[in-house]
Amino acid sequence: MGIIWKRIKDVKAGEVLGEDIYDSRSFVLLMKKNTKLTQGDIKQLADREINWIPIYVEDDAESLSDEYYEVFEVETSTKKKSFSEELPTVLPEKMYDEYIEVISNFVEDLRIGNRIDVSKVTNTCIGIVDYLEKQKDVILNFFSSHNLGFLRKHLINTSVLSVIIGDALNLQRHRMISVAKVALLHDIGWAFIEDNFQDIEPEGMAVPEEIFKKHVLVAVEVIRKNGENFLTPEEMNGILQHHERFDGKGIFGRKGKSVNWISRIVQIADAYDSLTSQITSKEAINPYQAAYWIINRSGIFYDPEFVNAFFKVFGVYPPGTKVELSDGRRGIVVKILPNAPLRPVVKIGNFELDLSKSSQLWIRGVVFE
Ligand SMILES: [Fe+2]
Ligand SMILES: [Fe+2]
Repeated sequence: MGIIWKRIKDVKAGEVLGEDIYDSRSFVLLMKKNTKLTQGDIKQLADREINWIPIYVEDDAESLSDEYYEVFEVETSTKKKSFSEELPTVLPEKMYDEYIEVISNFVEDLRIGNRIDVSKVTNTCIGIVDYLEKQKDVILNFFSSHNLGFLRKHLINTSVLSVIIGDALNLQRHRMISVAKVALLHDIGWAFIEDNFQDIEPEGMAVPEEIFKKHVLVAVEVIRKNGENFLTPEEMNGILQHHERFDGKGIFGRKGKSVNWISRIVQIADAYDSLTSQITSKEAINPYQAAYWIINRSGIFYDPEFVNAFFKVFGVYPPGTKVELSDGRRGIVVKILPNAPLRPVVKIGNFELDLSKSSQLWIRGVVFE
């Protein structure tokens, strides 16, 4: 007996619910696991905009076949590169390396059908939340090169960024951990699909829709198969819906606040890291351009409330942006001050200049190199 996720329109009366179903906005329990669904139940779930339903099936015949469990990139180079070699990275390098290994082992276990080591992944998420909570001024200096493997570093960066946005939203700790988890796992589906680096152009969606859809379905499928109860239904939905759009033009057509709240945070972090990463098919764009790209799509791709939280942390010139000051000196933005998004702290050589304290100096422009 297994579970498959069915579209609500394909669910028939008499089928049995494989997991508890929660309302994606209020988190209220709507229907309990093992409920034998009536036509009325199905309508009730559809009215609450629950589009995908976990259903018990006799065997795993409808599960995804082995052909998707093929590719997971292995990079041999250990060379890393961050946005700015002059700044400390957002996580200490040792921690980063450790988490890269957790992700690698996790995907490998899923691939060969081992039971997954849930505690290591959970501890990684707790580690990210705890570390960022202790950091007073986080410098968003990420490892941007894909030498470590784009997917693995993308998952860690997205998790870090999502937690930072979650913090700006004053989320409670257990919610922050959920956010970290969904972000850390949101794209693992690509590890099981050929052409798995395609999740890099949030706007272009150059990948055939079918494949795009598959990477989210494969992710929930492999997690469910190997680690029962590892993720809550809400977290599963977080993964499933990370390519929805605020205007309803995403993969499954969910719209506005009916898109899972964790997805609405993760997708902003996802875009920022994808855009600023150096990947094979395009050059990375700088943090300023990436922030502009996201702010421009507020209310279209992204929840405006969450874009505001992003803006609070990243400002107009996100940390890592190279800027030229009005006196011609050049430096790197290292810190955004809450009430001065246009006047950050800029590092010039070895010293830091707080522009909010200077009425004589301002940012003349961004340096594109
Ligand atoms: Fe994705
Ligand atoms: Fe992604």
